[in-house]
Amino acid sequence: MTVRAHKVRATRGERPSAPASFLLLHASELLTLRGMPGPRTREAASELGLIEDGAVYVEGDRIVDVGTTSEVLSRHPRATVQLDATGRVVMPGFVDPHTHPVFAGSREHEVEWKSQGLSYSEIAARGGGIMHTVRATREAAEAELARNGADRLRAMTAFGTTTVEAKSGYGLSTVDEVKILRAIADSGRIAGLDVVPTFLGAHAIPPEFEARPEAYLDLVVGDMLDAVLSDRLASFCDVFVDVGYFSVDQARGILMNAWNRGLRPKVHADELSEAGGAALAANVHAVSADHLNHVSPEGVEAMSREGVLAVLLPATSLASHLPFADGRRLIAAGVPVAIGTDFNPNTWCESMQLPIALACHHNGLTPAEAITAATINAAHAIGRPTDVGSVESGKLADLLVLDLPSWRHLGYRLGGNAVETVVKRGRVLLRRKPTK
Ligand code: NIG
Ligand code: FE
Repeated sequence: MTVRAHKVRATRGERPSAPASFLLLHASELLTLRGMPGPRTREAASELGLIEDGAVYVEGDRIVDVGTTSEVLSRHPRATVQLDATGRVVMPGFVDPHTHPVFAGSREHEVEWKSQGLSYSEIAARGGGIMHTVRATREAAEAELARNGADRLRAMTAFGTTTVEAKSGYGLSTVDEVKILRAIADSGRIAGLDVVPTFLGAHAIPPEFEARPEAYLDLVVGDMLDAVLSDRLASFCDVFVDVGYFSVDQARGILMNAWNRGLRPKVHADELSEAGGAALAANVHAVSADHLNHVSPEGVEAMSREGVLAVLLPATSLASHLPFADGRRLIAAGVPVAIGTDFNPNTWCESMQLPIALACHHNGLTPAEAITAATINAAHAIGRPTDVGSVESGKLADLLVLDLPSWRHLGYRLGGNAVETVVKRGRVLLRRKPTK
């Protein structure tokens, strides 16, 4: 593969400019994911829009032309930068629709407790889990959080993620939630990734409010939401609905309040137990209900009726010894399915390639459905379907070159990294030797 270098300089916080034009050609398999508008459901979830010997022509940061190499070359014979992808799979950059990348400290000691059979709730009851991370994050400075967040986003990019949703939720006070959301925005700028921020003030009830949870709810919908909105720090509002966290009624109050003020709802639903999260997500017209390890038949039905996306997070089932969500049942019911890493201090997984493979082996998705779930459906789950998730003219030129003989290897290989080149907004952001 040859890349004619295009040198760019940028100062911190500024996006380096893309070359004037960029031509990627001779992809043995170009997965365009093009298709009808709207999230892909049922049979459409298997359609990858494959072009053999495919090419993509880009001007600035946007895709201008897509087709076979001979078609595209006949219309655009020259470009400032040319990249030959002979023998490679080319596809849209992964869209990770669910992460918690900004926090301080780590929780490697909890692995021993998991080995001994302690559940997520038992670890939380020992003072571990979310509260362990909240204590460390409250101590941390914004700049340090942004630096660590950017390192994690860069690691995600090396595994092929080009757009990422990122939640707050380890501050649980106005000043600390704002600090995290600012660090999220800064970490995206430093790493050169598009980041879609979500306010998750209702991640847990902090100890100082344990005896008066209603006062914490007032704080979330009052002071915290005011601060988040006045600085436009988030696009979505999420709540962790589960036993020991927030009830359906508490979550409804928070999500309706946020929605009335412009933040679309998302729900951490039915992760540890069947707690009514999926039906709530349908009820408040959430864009997605995430996890769904224990979702009820009524919950699936309600999501299908209201068009709520399911975001499956199989790396968390792996890390927390939880059942895997029944993705087959969701697809059969007509629910659009997306996949994310859930990167967080409990599930330290930067790679979308691992949850794709896990979804094939444990959530009942086919490799084609898993690829749709990690790209175009994930773009819908974060409200960015017009910009990312497929290779179509007009969209951002976010492209991956994978050193794989066929796209089917994405659901097959476990734990490696097939990414050779990452193109972000028309610029080669990263080139590496794949470790497949
Ligand atoms: O999505 N379930 C709630 N939130 C995270 C885990 C947070 C943590 O354990 O630190 C999740 O899995
Ligand atoms: Fe999560």
